[in-house]
Amino acid sequence: MYALVTGGTNGIGLAGVRELAKRGARVGLVARSRAKAGAVAQEIGGADVFEADLTSQASIRAMTVEVAERAPVIDVLVNNAGAMYGSHQVSSEGIELTWALNVVAPYLITTLLADRLAPGARVIGTASDEHAKAQRINFDDLSGTQYFSASKKLTGGALRRYGETELALILLSSELARRMPQIHTYTFEPGFVATGFNTNNGRLMRLMMAMAKPFARTPEQGAETLVWLATSPDVAGETGLYYARERRTDPSAAAQDPQTAARLWETLEEQTALPK
Ligand SMILES: NC(=O)c1ccc[n+]([C@@H]2O[C@H](COP(=O)([O-])OP(=O)(O)OC[C@H]3O[C@@H](n4cnc5c(N)ncnc54)[C@H](OP(=O)(O)O)[C@@H]3O)[C@@H](O)[C@H]2O)c1
Repeated sequence: MYALVTGGTNGIGLAGVRELAKRGARVGLVARSRAKAGAVAQEIGGADVFEADLTSQASIRAMTVEVAERAPVIDVLVNNAGAMYGSHQVSSEGIELTWALNVVAPYLITTLLADRLAPGARVIGTASDEHAKAQRINFDDLSGTQYFSASKKLTGGALRRYGETELALILLSSELARRMPQIHTYTFEPGFVATGFNTNNGRLMRLMMAMAKPFARTPEQGAETLVWLATSPDVAGETGLYYARERRTDPSAAAQDPQTAARLWETLEEQTALPK
Protein backbone atom coordinates (compact mmCIF):
# COMPACT_ATOMS: atom_id res chain seq x y z
CA MET A 1 0.00 0.00 0.00
CA TYR A 2 1.26 3.49 -0.87
CA ALA A 3 -0.12 6.20 1.44
CA LEU A 4 0.44 9.88 0.68
CA VAL A 5 -0.17 11.90 3.84
CA THR A 6 -0.27 15.65 4.46
CA GLY A 7 0.54 16.90 7.95
CA GLY A 8 2.40 13.72 8.85
CA THR A 9 5.08 15.59 10.79
CA ASN A 10 3.08 16.26 13.94
CA GLY A 11 0.03 15.32 15.98
CA ILE A 12 -2.65 13.08 14.49
CA GLY A 13 -0.93 12.74 11.10
CA LEU A 14 2.38 11.70 12.67
CA ALA A 15 0.67 9.07 14.82
CA GLY A 16 -1.19 7.85 11.74
CA VAL A 17 1.96 7.66 9.63
CA ARG A 18 3.78 5.68 12.32
CA GLU A 19 0.95 3.14 12.50
CA LEU A 20 0.55 2.85 8.72
CA ALA A 21 4.30 2.26 8.34
CA LYS A 22 4.16 -0.35 11.11
CA ARG A 23 1.47 -2.12 9.12
CA GLY A 24 3.71 -2.23 6.06
CA ALA A 25 2.58 0.83 4.08
CA ARG A 26 5.09 2.81 2.06
CA VAL A 27 4.52 6.42 3.06
CA GLY A 28 4.86 9.67 1.13
CA LEU A 29 5.07 12.68 3.41
CA VAL A 30 3.82 16.03 2.13
CA ALA A 31 5.37 18.55 4.52
CA ARG A 32 6.34 22.19 4.75
CA SER A 33 9.53 21.31 6.62
CA ARG A 34 11.90 18.99 4.78
CA ALA A 35 13.97 18.61 7.95
CA LYS A 36 10.98 17.52 10.07
CA ALA A 37 9.75 15.16 7.37
CA GLY A 38 13.26 13.74 6.96
CA ALA A 39 13.37 12.93 10.68
CA VAL A 40 9.98 11.18 10.47
CA ALA A 41 11.10 9.27 7.37
CA GLN A 42 14.18 8.07 9.20
CA GLU A 43 12.19 7.06 12.27
CA ILE A 44 9.68 4.94 10.31
CA GLY A 45 12.35 3.22 8.24
CA GLY A 46 12.08 5.30 5.07
CA ALA A 47 9.49 7.45 3.30
CA ASP A 48 9.30 9.75 0.29
CA VAL A 49 9.36 13.42 1.21
CA PHE A 50 7.55 16.07 -0.84
CA GLU A 51 7.94 19.65 0.29
CA ALA A 52 4.98 22.03 0.10
CA ASP A 53 3.45 24.92 1.96
CA LEU A 54 -0.17 23.88 1.63
CA THR A 55 -1.50 27.42 1.98
CA SER A 56 0.13 28.16 -1.39
CA GLN A 57 -1.47 26.86 -4.58
CA ALA A 58 1.79 27.37 -6.48
CA SER A 59 3.58 25.21 -3.93
CA ILE A 60 0.87 22.53 -4.11
CA ARG A 61 1.07 22.46 -7.90
CA ALA A 62 4.87 22.01 -7.83
CA MET A 63 4.55 19.28 -5.20
CA THR A 64 1.96 17.29 -7.18
CA VAL A 65 4.19 17.39 -10.27
CA GLU A 66 6.97 15.89 -8.15
CA VAL A 67 4.62 13.27 -6.68
CA ALA A 68 3.49 12.28 -10.19
CA GLU A 69 7.14 11.86 -11.22
CA ARG A 70 8.47 10.06 -8.17
CA ALA A 71 5.67 8.23 -6.37
CA PRO A 72 4.00 5.02 -7.47
CA VAL A 73 0.23 4.78 -7.83
CA ILE A 74 -1.44 6.09 -4.66
CA ASP A 75 -3.68 3.71 -2.73
CA VAL A 76 -4.46 6.05 0.17
CA LEU A 77 -4.40 9.85 0.18
CA VAL A 78 -4.81 11.44 3.60
CA ASN A 79 -5.64 15.15 3.54
CA ASN A 80 -4.85 15.66 7.20
CA ALA A 81 -2.91 18.94 7.46
CA GLY A 82 -5.06 21.68 8.90
CA ALA A 83 -5.07 24.58 11.29
CA MET A 84 -7.02 27.44 12.76
CA TYR A 85 -5.68 30.96 12.26
CA GLY A 86 -6.63 33.44 15.00
CA SER A 87 -6.31 36.51 12.80
CA HIS A 88 -7.25 37.33 9.24
CA GLN A 89 -4.31 36.44 7.02
CA VAL A 90 -4.21 35.74 3.30
CA SER A 91 -2.16 33.41 1.13
CA SER A 92 0.00 34.43 -1.84
CA GLU A 93 -3.11 33.81 -3.99
CA GLY A 94 -5.17 36.15 -1.78
CA ILE A 95 -7.16 33.41 -0.01
CA GLU A 96 -7.78 33.51 3.74
CA LEU A 97 -5.37 31.02 5.31
CA THR A 98 -7.80 28.76 7.24
CA TRP A 99 -9.80 28.25 4.05
CA ALA A 100 -6.67 27.90 1.90
CA LEU A 101 -5.18 25.16 4.09
CA ASN A 102 -8.29 23.25 5.21
CA VAL A 103 -10.38 23.40 2.03
CA VAL A 104 -8.48 24.57 -1.05
CA ALA A 105 -5.45 22.33 -0.41
CA PRO A 106 -7.44 19.04 -0.13
CA TYR A 107 -9.43 19.99 -3.26
CA LEU A 108 -6.34 20.88 -5.29
CA ILE A 109 -4.22 17.93 -4.15
CA THR A 110 -6.99 15.41 -4.83
CA THR A 111 -7.97 16.78 -8.23
CA LEU A 112 -4.38 17.31 -9.42
CA LEU A 113 -3.43 13.79 -8.37
CA ALA A 114 -6.69 12.18 -9.59
CA ASP A 115 -4.97 10.20 -12.32
CA ARG A 116 -2.35 8.95 -9.85
CA LEU A 117 -5.01 7.42 -7.58
CA ALA A 118 -5.42 3.65 -7.89
CA PRO A 119 -8.91 2.39 -8.78
CA GLY A 120 -10.65 2.06 -5.41
CA ALA A 121 -8.14 4.40 -3.74
CA ARG A 122 -9.21 5.82 -0.39
CA VAL A 123 -9.15 9.59 0.08
CA ILE A 124 -9.44 10.49 3.74
CA GLY A 125 -9.95 13.95 5.22
CA THR A 126 -9.34 14.80 8.87
CA ALA A 127 -12.36 16.92 9.76
CA SER A 128 -13.94 18.05 13.02
CA ASP A 129 -17.24 18.12 14.87
CA GLU A 130 -16.70 21.89 14.98
CA HIS A 131 -18.31 21.78 11.51
CA ALA A 132 -21.70 21.44 13.21
CA LYS A 133 -21.42 24.96 14.65
CA ALA A 134 -21.43 26.42 11.16
CA GLN A 135 -24.96 26.58 9.80
CA ARG A 136 -23.83 27.28 6.27
CA ILE A 137 -20.99 28.24 3.96
CA ASN A 138 -21.07 31.99 3.53
CA PHE A 139 -20.35 32.20 -0.19
CA ASP A 140 -20.75 35.99 -0.02
CA ASP A 141 -17.78 36.28 2.36
CA LEU A 142 -15.33 33.61 1.28
CA SER A 143 -12.49 35.56 2.85
CA GLY A 144 -14.21 35.16 6.23
CA THR A 145 -13.80 38.82 7.17
CA GLN A 146 -17.00 38.62 9.26
CA TYR A 147 -15.23 36.25 11.68
CA PHE A 148 -12.18 38.36 12.38
CA SER A 149 -13.50 41.74 13.50
CA ALA A 150 -12.31 42.96 16.91
CA SER A 151 -15.63 42.08 18.59
CA LYS A 152 -15.82 38.61 16.98
CA LYS A 153 -12.29 37.91 18.18
CA LEU A 154 -13.53 37.91 21.74
CA THR A 155 -16.46 35.63 20.94
CA GLY A 156 -14.60 32.86 19.16
CA GLY A 157 -14.81 34.15 15.59
CA ALA A 158 -11.71 32.23 14.50
CA LEU A 159 -13.14 28.98 15.87
CA ARG A 160 -16.36 29.60 13.98
CA ARG A 161 -14.36 30.26 10.82
CA TYR A 162 -12.51 26.98 11.45
CA GLY A 163 -15.90 25.26 11.81
CA GLU A 164 -16.99 26.67 8.46
CA THR A 165 -13.88 25.26 6.78
CA GLU A 166 -14.49 21.85 8.37
CA LEU A 167 -18.07 21.94 7.08
CA ALA A 168 -16.64 22.67 3.64
CA LEU A 169 -14.17 19.79 3.93
CA ILE A 170 -16.99 17.30 4.63
CA LEU A 171 -19.05 18.70 1.74
CA LEU A 172 -15.99 18.48 -0.53
CA SER A 173 -15.57 14.81 0.37
CA SER A 174 -19.20 14.07 -0.52
CA GLU A 175 -18.89 15.95 -3.81
CA LEU A 176 -15.66 14.11 -4.65
CA ALA A 177 -17.55 10.86 -4.03
CA ARG A 178 -20.24 11.93 -6.52
CA ARG A 179 -17.80 13.10 -9.16
CA MET A 180 -15.19 10.38 -8.79
CA PRO A 181 -16.96 7.02 -8.37
CA GLN A 182 -13.72 5.19 -9.08
CA ILE A 183 -12.37 6.21 -5.65
CA HIS A 184 -13.72 6.12 -2.08
CA THR A 185 -13.78 9.22 0.07
CA TYR A 186 -14.14 9.51 3.84
CA THR A 187 -13.95 12.24 6.47
CA PHE A 188 -13.60 11.66 10.17
CA GLU A 189 -13.63 13.43 13.52
CA PRO A 190 -10.63 12.58 15.74
CA GLY A 191 -12.04 14.01 18.99
CA PHE A 192 -10.22 16.64 21.03
CA VAL A 193 -6.59 15.60 20.68
CA ALA A 194 -3.43 16.93 22.34
CA THR A 195 -1.38 18.07 19.34
CA GLY A 196 0.16 21.25 18.01
CA PHE A 197 -3.32 22.46 17.01
CA ASN A 198 -4.00 26.12 17.96
CA THR A 199 -0.45 26.64 19.22
CA ASN A 200 0.12 29.08 16.33
CA ASN A 201 -2.11 31.77 17.85
CA GLY A 202 -0.02 33.40 20.56
CA ARG A 203 1.01 32.69 24.14
CA LEU A 204 -2.46 32.76 25.67
CA MET A 205 -3.78 30.12 23.27
CA ARG A 206 -0.66 27.99 23.80
CA LEU A 207 -1.23 28.19 27.56
CA MET A 208 -4.90 27.27 27.18
CA MET A 209 -4.05 24.29 24.97
CA ALA A 210 -1.42 23.13 27.49
CA MET A 211 -3.96 23.38 30.32
CA ALA A 212 -6.52 21.39 28.33
CA LYS A 213 -4.01 18.64 27.50
CA PRO A 214 -4.90 16.32 30.43
CA PHE A 215 -8.49 16.16 29.14
CA ALA A 216 -7.50 15.47 25.55
CA ARG A 217 -7.08 12.23 23.64
CA THR A 218 -3.57 11.18 22.64
CA PRO A 219 -2.47 11.59 19.00
CA GLU A 220 -2.48 7.77 18.75
CA GLN A 221 -6.13 7.69 19.83
CA GLY A 222 -6.88 10.58 17.46
CA ALA A 223 -5.34 8.60 14.58
CA GLU A 224 -7.22 5.34 15.21
CA THR A 225 -10.10 6.19 12.87
CA LEU A 226 -7.66 7.49 10.23
CA VAL A 227 -5.77 4.19 10.21
CA TRP A 228 -9.01 2.20 10.26
CA LEU A 229 -10.37 4.13 7.26
CA ALA A 230 -7.09 3.60 5.41
CA THR A 231 -6.91 -0.13 6.04
CA SER A 232 -10.17 -1.75 7.14
CA PRO A 233 -12.31 -3.92 4.86
CA ASP A 234 -15.31 -2.66 6.91
CA VAL A 235 -15.51 0.56 4.87
CA ALA A 236 -14.43 -0.80 1.49
CA GLY A 237 -17.84 -0.32 -0.13
CA GLU A 238 -18.56 3.11 1.35
CA THR A 239 -17.86 6.57 0.02
CA GLY A 240 -18.64 10.21 0.83
CA LEU A 241 -19.46 9.46 4.47
CA TYR A 242 -18.37 10.73 7.90
CA TYR A 243 -16.93 8.74 10.80
CA ALA A 244 -15.89 9.00 14.44
CA ARG A 245 -14.41 6.41 16.79
CA GLU A 246 -14.24 3.84 14.00
CA ARG A 247 -17.96 4.07 13.29
CA ARG A 248 -20.06 5.78 10.71
CA THR A 249 -21.90 8.80 12.06
CA ASP A 250 -24.01 11.58 10.58
CA PRO A 251 -22.50 15.02 10.17
CA SER A 252 -24.79 18.06 10.50
CA ALA A 253 -27.66 18.55 8.06
CA ALA A 254 -25.71 21.39 6.42
CA ALA A 255 -22.84 18.97 5.76
CA GLN A 256 -25.18 16.66 3.85
CA ASP A 257 -26.64 19.20 1.45
CA PRO A 258 -25.75 18.24 -2.15
CA GLN A 259 -26.61 21.70 -3.53
CA THR A 260 -24.13 23.39 -1.21
CA ALA A 261 -21.55 20.73 -2.06
CA ALA A 262 -22.01 21.40 -5.78
CA ARG A 263 -21.72 25.16 -5.25
CA LEU A 264 -18.61 24.66 -3.15
CA TRP A 265 -17.04 22.67 -5.99
CA GLU A 266 -17.71 25.48 -8.47
CA THR A 267 -16.28 27.98 -5.99
CA LEU A 268 -13.12 25.94 -5.57
CA GLU A 269 -12.77 25.62 -9.34
CA GLU A 270 -12.88 29.42 -9.53
CA GLN A 271 -10.52 29.94 -6.61
CA THR A 272 -7.92 27.63 -8.13
CA ALA A 273 -8.26 28.61 -11.79
CA LEU A 274 -4.94 29.58 -13.29
CA PRO A 275 -4.86 33.08 -14.80
CA LYS A 276 -5.48 32.99 -18.57
N1 LIG B 1 -6.27 18.37 17.63
C1 LIG B 1 -7.57 18.32 17.64
O1 LIG B 1 -8.22 18.31 18.71
C2 LIG B 1 -8.34 18.23 16.34
C3 LIG B 1 -9.74 18.03 16.40
C4 LIG B 1 -10.45 17.95 15.22
C5 LIG B 1 -9.78 17.99 14.01
N2 LIG B 1 -8.43 18.21 13.98
C6 LIG B 1 -7.77 18.26 12.66
O2 LIG B 1 -6.71 17.33 12.66
C7 LIG B 1 -5.77 17.66 11.63
C8 LIG B 1 -4.37 17.50 12.16
O3 LIG B 1 -4.14 18.47 13.15
P1 LIG B 1 -3.40 18.17 14.51
O4 LIG B 1 -4.38 18.34 15.59
O5 LIG B 1 -2.63 16.91 14.43
O6 LIG B 1 -2.45 19.48 14.56
P2 LIG B 1 -0.87 19.67 14.48
O7 LIG B 1 -0.20 18.87 15.54
O8 LIG B 1 -0.69 21.14 14.49
O9 LIG B 1 -0.48 19.07 13.08
C9 LIG B 1 -0.79 19.74 11.90
C10 LIG B 1 0.03 19.17 10.76
O10 LIG B 1 -0.26 19.94 9.58
C11 LIG B 1 0.95 20.48 9.07
N3 LIG B 1 0.74 21.81 8.47
C12 LIG B 1 0.19 22.90 9.07
N4 LIG B 1 0.21 23.95 8.23
C13 LIG B 1 0.80 23.51 7.08
C14 LIG B 1 1.11 24.12 5.85
N5 LIG B 1 0.87 25.42 5.61
N6 LIG B 1 1.71 23.37 4.88
C15 LIG B 1 2.00 22.07 5.11
N7 LIG B 1 1.72 21.42 6.25
C16 LIG B 1 1.13 22.15 7.23
C17 LIG B 1 1.86 20.59 10.28
O11 LIG B 1 3.21 20.71 9.87
P3 LIG B 1 4.39 21.13 10.91
O12 LIG B 1 4.81 19.84 11.59
O13 LIG B 1 5.41 21.71 10.02
O14 LIG B 1 3.78 22.11 11.88
C18 LIG B 1 1.53 19.29 11.00
O15 LIG B 1 2.20 18.21 10.39
C19 LIG B 1 -6.14 19.09 11.21
O16 LIG B 1 -6.78 19.05 9.96
C20 LIG B 1 -7.10 19.56 12.28
O17 LIG B 1 -8.03 20.48 11.77
C21 LIG B 1 -7.70 18.31 15.12
